[in-house]
Amino acid sequence: MGSKVEKLKINFKTLEEFKKFKQYGIQELSMLEDLEANMVEDHSDSPFYGIYFGDKLVARMSLYQIDAKFDRYFYPPQNYLELWKLEVLPDYQGKGYGKQLVEFAKSFGLPIKTNPRVHSSEFWNKMDFDAVEYDMERDRGENPLVWYPAGVEAQH
Ligand code: COA
Repeated sequence: MGSKVEKLKINFKTLEEFKKFKQYGIQELSMLEDLEANMVEDHSDSPFYGIYFGDKLVARMSLYQIDAKFDRYFYPPQNYLELWKLEVLPDYQGKGYGKQLVEFAKSFGLPIKTNPRVHSSEFWNKMDFDAVEYDMERDRGENPLVWYPAGVEAQH
């Protein structure tokens, strides 16, 4: 395979690549507005990581660190990662790119929370993510999946 996970620079080219993904939405549009307003290219503080095949972006995810004081999922309470917008372009699915991104996220050694898309539960199973015990006030209709590094368990 040989492609590596890269932190994505937010510039007009990257935002153009993002349009090929189904989960293109308000977050991308607001980044585009920012770019147009500030004319600052190559913001490197974006939460996006991706994998290029040649010069084509074929997989991406967003990864955001949440501070321990807001942690309602893990015990002991600690900083954790929220992963969203994991997506592999159709022609590149089933080749290990999704797994490579998730393993990259795990390599920080922090617990991870994600809100999976429908129909992806088998993938998350294979990635060792577990459903949380639903808490109406905390989860409010979401069905988050979490990954626990060694020594971390569910918060009760
Ligand atoms: N159903 C069952 N198993 C799946 C799967 C699926 N839809 N997608 C991946 N897997 C399994 C693979 O067989 C592989 O197993 P292995 O490690 O035993 O070989 C493992 O999960 C890793 O697969 P990988 O090649 O890394 O998956 P991917 O690069 O295609 O990424 C998604 C997975 C879900 C992120 C990606 O396919 C995607 O973005 N899909 C978009 C639409 C969607 O959610 N589809 C779900 C099916 S409709």
